[in-house]
Amino acid sequence: MEPNLRIFDDLLSLSKEAAAVFAESARQAIAQRGRFLVALSGGNTPMETFRQLIDPPVDWEPVHVFWGDERCVPVDDPGSSYGQARDALLSHVQIPEQNIHRIQADLGPAAAAIDYTILLKRFAETPLDWPRFDLVLLGMGDDGHTASLFPGSPTDITDPVIAVTAQYQDRPANRVTLTPVVFNAARQIVFLVSGQSKSETLVNVLKGGYHPEQLPAQRIQPTDGELTWFVDAAAASRL
Ligand code: 6PG
Repeated sequence: MEPNLRIFDDLLSLSKEAAAVFAESARQAIAQRGRFLVALSGGNTPMETFRQLIDPPVDWEPVHVFWGDERCVPVDDPGSSYGQARDALLSHVQIPEQNIHRIQADLGPAAAAIDYTILLKRFAETPLDWPRFDLVLLGMGDDGHTASLFPGSPTDITDPVIAVTAQYQDRPANRVTLTPVVFNAARQIVFLVSGQSKSETLVNVLKGGYHPEQLPAQRIQPTDGELTWFVDAAAASRL
């Protein structure tokens, strides 16, 4: 099934709409199930979306925030996905502290993966051992990675959470990541992709052959959910 593609003039307009989609997804989930389970992405692209979420009327009380992946650095390290979301959004809204479910990367990759697997079970939706996230925000690297699923990594992972080591730009190498079995159970997945440097990979991911080992973003195929790509004009320039 062709994923939905929405092209925006620039990152700001993309981010404003992503925040509006977040708020609407939260409203619907809370109305239907009494809570909103969302997994955030790290990286630079979602930062403006986080900032745009400070104002709209999200009822944060029933919101539970998770992360699709985390770098194994201290929470106050600029590379911490939790730290960046905390500083840009979570410290500015009335979300209960116990609803913020960061990956405890300070335990070390292997222990943090086990710890998060146990946490996910607390929110599991039978018959799964993990939740059906109401919304997952994902980014995509220039190399086609998403979360911390990198090119060349195994495509037959059945564990919900794994520890990985990968080199990407100057970013921290040791990471913990959710895997496609969790992502693809989500009700709604939104990729946020911005910038000319992503344009060639985006064509390959969206219009090229299916090569999930080399293009991990292609592993994201929700089983019974909606997948939408939010891209700015620069990233879409070759589509
Ligand atoms: C991370 C993210 C990663 C990110 C991409 C894109 O922790 O690094 O999960 O998958 O989304 O690398 O990063 P940018 O948004 O900075 O381009």
